[in-house]
Amino acid sequence: MFNKICIIGVGLIGGSIARAARKQGLCDHIVAFGRQSGIKNLQQAKTLGVIDEYYVDIEPAVKDADCIIICTPVGVIEPVFKLLQPFWDENAVYSDAGSTKTSVIAAAQAVFGQVPANFVAAHPIAGAESSGVNASRADLYNNKRLILTPTPDNSQQAIDKVTKFWQKIGSIVSVMDVEHHDAVLAATSHLPHILAFSLVDLLGQKDEQVEIFKFAAGGFKDFTRIASSDPTMWLDICMANKKEIIPLIQQLKTELTKVEQMLVEENSQQLFETFTYAKQARQRFLNQFDNAMSQSITFNVQPGGSLRGEIRVPGDKSMSHRSIMLGSLAEGVTHVKGFLNAEDALSTLAAFRAMGVEIEGPEKGEVTIHGVGKHGLKEPKEPLYLGNSGTSMRLLSGLLAGQSFNTVLTGDASLSSRPMKRVTGPLVSMGANIETEADGTAPMRITGTDKLQAINYVMPMASAQVKSCLLLAGMYAEGETTVIEPAPTRDHTERMLNGFGYPVQREGDKASINAKGKLTACEIDVPSDISSAAFFLVGASIAPDSDVTLKHVGINPTRTGIIDILRLMGANIEVLNERSVGGEPVADLRVVSSQLKGIEIPEELVPLAIDEFPVLFVAAACAEGQTTLTGAKELRVKECDRIQVMADGLKTLGVDAVPTEDGMVIQGKSVDSIGGGEVHTHDDHRIAMSFSIAGLRSTAPITVRDCQNVNTSFPEFRDLATQLGLDLK
Ligand code: S3P
Repeated sequence: MFNKICIIGVGLIGGSIARAARKQGLCDHIVAFGRQSGIKNLQQAKTLGVIDEYYVDIEPAVKDADCIIICTPVGVIEPVFKLLQPFWDENAVYSDAGSTKTSVIAAAQAVFGQVPANFVAAHPIAGAESSGVNASRADLYNNKRLILTPTPDNSQQAIDKVTKFWQKIGSIVSVMDVEHHDAVLAATSHLPHILAFSLVDLLGQKDEQVEIFKFAAGGFKDFTRIASSDPTMWLDICMANKKEIIPLIQQLKTELTKVEQMLVEENSQQLFETFTYAKQARQRFLNQFDNAMSQSITFNVQPGGSLRGEIRVPGDKSMSHRSIMLGSLAEGVTHVKGFLNAEDALSTLAAFRAMGVEIEGPEKGEVTIHGVGKHGLKEPKEPLYLGNSGTSMRLLSGLLAGQSFNTVLTGDASLSSRPMKRVTGPLVSMGANIETEADGTAPMRITGTDKLQAINYVMPMASAQVKSCLLLAGMYAEGETTVIEPAPTRDHTERMLNGFGYPVQREGDKASINAKGKLTACEIDVPSDISSAAFFLVGASIAPDSDVTLKHVGINPTRTGIIDILRLMGANIEVLNERSVGGEPVADLRVVSSQLKGIEIPEELVPLAIDEFPVLFVAAACAEGQTTLTGAKELRVKECDRIQVMADGLKTLGVDAVPTEDGMVIQGKSVDSIGGGEVHTHDDHRIAMSFSIAGLRSTAPITVRDCQNVNTSFPEFRDLATQLGLDLK
């Protein structure tokens, strides 16, 4: 990638970068620059082979270097910029490893007038208890997060190159704006360090009198690990970010005072609730951490087997989202049962917590929402990060357009590349103020207004998300908002609004709403998600000798396309114990294996099975004859391009699958239909689960790469699939 890398400051951080760059073969030559007073450290770095050469003069150090990484403490970054300025090379790229970013950017602006186009600030989030080049390791950044904080002054070329550099070092790169970075890090890193330092300081002074440390155990060691960090570096970081840290210390004091009061008053109930809430919050953090850090999970599926047994798959994702949204806007306390405890629904839950709604749970699928009323949401302090969830982002954009405050909606790489114009277009014509990237993608910056005007909107595509977004905006608009859909799509928003007592008029393809209603808290029982059940409907159909019963599945007619399509293909699915639960039809589904046949999938069923096509393609591969799907262009803009990605994977497995602009043509074979091989999910949960199910009829093992996103909708998939008989590790 580079000829010569120059590391400014070669301690633990700089040394580890140099080692990783060498290990990855990123350059021919690595040098370091340091102060005369640190000459011993520089010599040590050379002896260890971390660098090829070192300098105490800047000019020879940076001469011909095409990548310069500043790894000094943030407190001296301004003098470093001054040193570099006379030799600044337009053709090189520059980055840093500082733990605070506002101060780094301010230093660059102070020295250069503006941030140089080729200096892209970065913060690799990794460290160790020991400091100095002796402690440096080539794998320090492996699978660790790194936050890049580019500014508008940066050139895209430099951003791309610096991103690639850090990725090659092993980091998982995220992008944030500068202030946001410092606010986030103040809470998650700087405050904990201050706490650890202060606690050990306090107890250290007591130790001489009462031998505290002698009796301290693992808990104390865990809690205080970070008090072993480098004091000079942390002094620097805390000074540089004190603006963000001081208010947090004040909040912590308030929290401690509250706990103190609970003890004084012997309020065990409240104390228990505080501890329980904290324990649950930590579990959520651990889940997220594991997902992010186990950067990639691979499913290894052994061929063959059958599925047998009775299971209940987790709660419906669409309804879980809506239960949080409407429960938050309701007056009173809403109880939700069967809530989907998975990342997508939790993104919505976290967003409403950030807007001041008190939400308890999820605990065993139960959530309690203390509604704040239609106008009771508060401005969130941070952008709302919605992970992978398109439903959260699109529905929230409508709901937030008519608030009295501003919001920013962000998401992961997949969500940030999905089209948002489909919602911003009609919202803007209602008078909403929303900015997106030039290509209409997130982040979405919403400036709230109380001047929304109703709209009569004929939707160009069949999308429940667009419909729901506009209905939610319509709750804040003047006049009657009407949405007309080209084909029926899931109607959970309309049903649930009615359940909360908010009037929505429905007539044929039209749904209308106005601002006059109010939501009254209610009880919600979320049925199992038919989109998750779909994997077993197909699995039990294609695997010989299978017999599976899926309990309590939502069979809302706008969602049952999968049953209709599989039945047309000859599947044996029985709908048992049909009942109605909280305004939604529910049933147990029994499916036994059968020889499927290829069909032309009726286009009117496409929106009713929109999320089930990845697994339906697997069914088609095992069916006798050709299956043709048309009218499903929407699949190209889901969590990934599901037409292309499924066709690629199926081809790898030896299936004759030809993608078309709006669908696919698959030549199914009743025996030996699917071979083994390695397929890629493109981080799409449903692709991961579909290819796992394909193993039931494959002739050799299937390796499914990047399955971590299964957690967005169905974290129990692996357990339930193996319980039924799939050999998946
Ligand atoms: C959803 C609607 C569908 C679906 C998505 C959930 C919803 O998206 O694919 O998984 O909850 O409204 P579109 O509206 O984009 O079709």
